[in-house]
Amino acid sequence: MQHSQEPIRTPRLILRQWQPSDLPVYAALNADPEVRRFWPTLLTRAQSDEQAEGFQRHIEEHGFGFWALEVPGVAPFVGFTGLMRVDSSMPFAPGVEIGWRLAREHWGKGYVTEAARAALADGFGRLGLSEIVSYAVVGNEASFSVMKRIGMNRDQAGDLDIPGREALHRRAELYRVHRNQVNAANGNSR
Ligand SMILES: CC(C)(COP(=O)(O)OP(=O)(O)OC[C@H]1O[C@@H](n2cnc3c(N)ncnc32)[C@H](O)[C@@H]1OP(=O)(O)O)[C@@H](O)C(=O)NCCC(=O)NCCS
Repeated sequence: MQHSQEPIRTPRLILRQWQPSDLPVYAALNADPEVRRFWPTLLTRAQSDEQAEGFQRHIEEHGFGFWALEVPGVAPFVGFTGLMRVDSSMPFAPGVEIGWRLAREHWGKGYVTEAARAALADGFGRLGLSEIVSYAVVGNEASFSVMKRIGMNRDQAGDLDIPGREALHRRAELYRVHRNQVNAANGNSR
């Protein structure tokens, strides 16, 4: 079934369906060792394209997904932020997770926090979800900071080993936010 793929707009950003011109920029950020610090490998151009096509298909099928992020007046594509159905191999499946990845030159501007708040509002509003989760590899403090800023709380019992990962990048922490928790947190500017 085809769903709405209407872009989501925030004061500085557009969360939209992927387009072909995003792919080389996405491949460049997936070839940046700093961006990929918490993964075992960099992605090749083909792997990066395949991943973006998967994100695009998820949006087509479900009406939500890891949206391409555009910053009008700054850059046509800076990375992604959005919601995704949790892979069935994950110990906390089923559910919907929130995730993000940004080209390094755009870190430190609050883009992901702004996009993630809009994605949560869409999830709890239009999509009618009751809970959204997120996880990141131990040590990924930039990602945990985003989770905390948008009102997520660590599930102490949720620590997990990401299936298929080798030891160094395997251990992860799980965060959760319930729809009733979100308004208070997202009244804060940071
Ligand atoms: C995780 C990641 C997206 C976080 O990027 P980020 O730029 O730190 O996140 P934001 O866009 O929300 O920006 C927040 C930062 O901008 C600052 N900022 C500036 N203006 C801001 C604003 N208007 N609103 C909020 N924050 C603002 C914040 O203070 C914060 O900086 P700090 O961490 O030094 O305190 C980025 O590090 C990344 O892509 N990492 C690699 C991929 C990855 O690990 N993804 C997650 C896997 S689980």
